[in-house]
Amino acid sequence: MEATAFAHPNIALVKYWGKRDTDLNLPVAGSLSLTLGGLSTTTRVRYRDDISRDIVILDGKELRQGSRAYQRVVEFVQLVRNESNHDYFAEVETANDFPTAAGLASSASGFAALALAATSAAGLHLLDEQLSALARRGSGSAARSIYGGFAEMRRGSRKDGHDAFAVPIAGPEHWDLRCVVAVTTQGEKDISSTEGMLRTQESSPLFTPWADTVAGDIVEATDAIKARDFQALGRVAERSCLGMHASAMAADPGVIYWNPTTLELIHRVRRARRDGLQVFFTIDAGPHVKVFCPARELSAVRSVLGQIGGVSDLIVARPGEGAALVAADAVNA
Ligand code: DP6
Repeated sequence: MEATAFAHPNIALVKYWGKRDTDLNLPVAGSLSLTLGGLSTTTRVRYRDDISRDIVILDGKELRQGSRAYQRVVEFVQLVRNESNHDYFAEVETANDFPTAAGLASSASGFAALALAATSAAGLHLLDEQLSALARRGSGSAARSIYGGFAEMRRGSRKDGHDAFAVPIAGPEHWDLRCVVAVTTQGEKDISSTEGMLRTQESSPLFTPWADTVAGDIVEATDAIKARDFQALGRVAERSCLGMHASAMAADPGVIYWNPTTLELIHRVRRARRDGLQVFFTIDAGPHVKVFCPARELSAVRSVLGQIGGVSDLIVARPGEGAALVAADAVNA
């Protein structure tokens, strides 16, 4: 009744923003992402008959029972318990090997690894699509981290959400890209993506027009990925990102994730492109900028980004594998 799994975070190239059902965590529209290797979350789940509540340990520290983070994990573990024929409490031990300050969604890798470890430890063997739909309940973006390489999250149309899962588009070996995360000095406290997207859909007049563009953007991005057309992928990715942020900024009150360095990076990336570098950017619910380039352009891109004063760190990731179990003997070694 024990299993360990790892998963990588992912970066959306066509953004997920907005929910049509908050209980089942169903998205308003689909999305598309690249799973990032080199950064991972490892999670061990042990069902124990000698504990009287779930225990959650994150990066070596036990989470407080009433905390939001604890609650999120326990609610998720309960979903798995409901599907299995045992009612033991779980000890969940999870660790990220990348700094949370990097602004990379640890909830994506976290719930993907937890979905796999919690179901395996319970003796449930789900298909990837079922695992993806389950991971979605923890965090929408986690549904995509079940797969390596490029993945498409399907909106689905069923009320029960059973068809709202991600599917693979192309494996990590398909395209030798790099994603450089330019970590900008943290400004004010972040508004979580959940909070930001709910406020946007409730109050922004730009939300629906933006959401209506997503399905077309997914088709265009998929074609660009299959053809390894960097320029076409960059065009749709920047458009999706800026549209999402514009809709958030038009909420009431406006949701603004950027700081001055974020904007400086946007301009710098575009200037580098005019100067002949193959490069594009995307930004999630935070001030950091993720810059994509073909592997051969990496050193040039690093030197451009490294010259910007407000950039405190550059983290380089490459296309990564999907969520996987860690063999028991590898864990005990
Ligand atoms: C901007 O997956 O964190 O990164 O489903 O509420 O947990 P919840 O939201 P989350 O949202 C991610 C938003 C985004 C875009 C994306 O990853 O597609």
